[in-house]
Amino acid sequence: MLIRHSIISNITSRLSTSLLYLGLGIWAITGILLPVSLFADEPMLNDKIIIAHRGASGYLPEHTLAAKVLAYGMGVDFIEQDVVLSRDKIPVVLHDLELNATTNVKQVFPNRARKDGKFYVIDFDLSELKQLNVTARIRKNGNPRYSGRFPPGRSEFKIATLSEEIELIQGMNKSTGKNIGLYTEIKSPAWHHEQGYDLSTAVLQTLSDYGYTNASDNVLLQCFDPAELLRVKNELNSNLRLVQLIGENAWNEADTDYNKMHSKAGLQKIAIYASGIGPSIDHILKVRNGEIQSTTLVKDAHDLGMVVHPYTLRKDKLPSYVNSFEELMELLFVKAGVDGVFTDFPDLAVQFLKSK
Ligand code: G3P
Ligand code: CA
Repeated sequence: MLIRHSIISNITSRLSTSLLYLGLGIWAITGILLPVSLFADEPMLNDKIIIAHRGASGYLPEHTLAAKVLAYGMGVDFIEQDVVLSRDKIPVVLHDLELNATTNVKQVFPNRARKDGKFYVIDFDLSELKQLNVTARIRKNGNPRYSGRFPPGRSEFKIATLSEEIELIQGMNKSTGKNIGLYTEIKSPAWHHEQGYDLSTAVLQTLSDYGYTNASDNVLLQCFDPAELLRVKNELNSNLRLVQLIGENAWNEADTDYNKMHSKAGLQKIAIYASGIGPSIDHILKVRNGEIQSTTLVKDAHDLGMVVHPYTLRKDKLPSYVNSFEELMELLFVKAGVDGVFTDFPDLAVQFLKSK
């Protein structure tokens, strides 16, 4: 079996919204869902890709520039940025809204927690965030989140702004001649709105400052919140390719019913604004009657012209039904037919695709 693995220069796929509406309209009238490629104004996003989840975070503290450089050197196609805002409205690359689990904020600013005991990124100016050291993720009891990984508290890592990370990746793209992409997530946009901040506008401005404005540019913009992705597209008039992340309702990522996104009708709504979906592995692989089966999610998304990039493959946190990282890769890429994966261990994933 041949699995193609190449860089983003070959990757385009954005369906024009109007043509997709036309395709769905024909489906509604005739019951015939024509292949979306007939309506595509650009080629499919059809190469298999590896996305460095928060960098090579299985080896170095997540979202540090060191983790991003290591991922780049491992041969990934995209590097992920989770983005939140500082108090002075600077997009910074961090997964959590709070600083508790990945920095030494308690030591540096002991009196800056809110009543809930959390130190929120948005309560600190960038100059203050830069005074912190980033550490490998810890649990509430102070133990490492992943015991076999880079030890918390070692070495010195700093919080990076989105601009700094883009400059690093673009710099490496120039020096290597590659074209590695950004896979940027707008984190908890509704929460930012509640705090009086517009995260999406700030992220789009930064991306634009570095030349990312069109569907053909090497960025995928992801979010768990469908209302915000629609806003990005329709109110903020972004032409970037969008990816709808699919979570679990219990996570409270957004005011939406993720269960509905798995149906064909739900996916059709997503296909109007997004080029792809980012479900969890568990949305794609299920154990039924002792057998590992794939759901219809990948095929249904593909039928609508969308790519599928599940999260998150971790060699040190495998699903119970597999014995190895490679087995999980085989199930996802070969059995289920996904188009890419988010992984903390990009070297293993790149090696897997190269072996095919
Ligand atoms: O964004 C996709 C993947 O990163 C999963 O979400 O929670 O790790 O940002 P999260
Ligand atoms: Ca993410």
